[in-house]
Amino acid sequence: LPGGDEVNNILIEIKDGTGILTIHRPHALNALNRQTLEELKMALVELRSNEQVQVIIITGSGDKAFVAGADIREMEGMTPEEAKRFALLGDEVFTMVETTDKPVIAAVNGFALGGGCELALACDIRYAAEHARFGQPEVGLGITPGFGGTQRLPRLVGKGLGLELLLSGGTIPAEEAWRIGLVNKVVPYVLEEAEKLAQCICTKSPFAVKQTKQLVVHGLNMDMARALRFEAEGFGLCFSSGEQKEGMKAFGEKRVPSFK
Ligand code: CAA
Repeated sequence: LPGGDEVNNILIEIKDGTGILTIHRPHALNALNRQTLEELKMALVELRSNEQVQVIIITGSGDKAFVAGADIREMEGMTPEEAKRFALLGDEVFTMVETTDKPVIAAVNGFALGGGCELALACDIRYAAEHARFGQPEVGLGITPGFGGTQRLPRLVGKGLGLELLLSGGTIPAEEAWRIGLVNKVVPYVLEEAEKLAQCICTKSPFAVKQTKQLVVHGLNMDMARALRFEAEGFGLCFSSGEQKEGMKAFGEKRVPSFK
């Protein structure tokens, strides 16, 4: 299409229990425009309900960028009201990433700037390629982050380091992102490494995996006493699943459990 914007800006691949979502707008370094956010939303709805999928990986097309931010060209002419709606759309989609009951791994294969860093932050686990770079350059464009960066970044790396990144607009290499806890691991082949982790998670009890994510994501927003009761409820629920019976039986029989 003129401008290179196809209808398919999100590619979906399902492989051995893992759903891989690839943001695919290579001509714009995978920048997120409205269309791409809408497609990401649809793809998440699909993978959330697909019983073959236990873990989701989000990555970017090519080896230069994960996502270079929200689409600056699309934002340039927005009215304040349109910009607010755009931020709310991004928030809705990223909150889906965060709260979907399947684990979501970001395989950050290059630039993760602005909305790209915010997308990685909404994922449960972040692995980075050695050449990846992270940052929130919004203040240099005369705007604030709009897809959760002012909240998720300081919650993850702490207020001081978060504000330093947010206020300077500077970018940091993968190694530094690892040092400050923004990414879990820096690896040469990031998608392969994310797939290995997904495979490991796929061998565990799907019920327990889903419960664990829910307990962490929702529990972190509760006070400690309530969160611990919530945890006890989740623990109890596991004993109503056949998977607990199989897991513990397999332990006694000294064999690998089969949760299929
Ligand atoms: N939006 C739209 N297009 C973008 C883009 C973005 N965020 N980032 C890159 N592109 C486009 C470029 O315009 C360029 O297109 P043309 O070839 O048509 O000119 C193409 O992608 C390749 O980019 P560059 O030529 O700039 O590549 P580079 O290697 O010289 O630089 C880069 C790479 C440092 C990532 C640079 O592209 C860059 O700084 N991009 C913008 C990063 C940014 O500011 N992101 C934050 C956006 S605001 C935001 O995200 C708000 C929010 O929270 C909601």
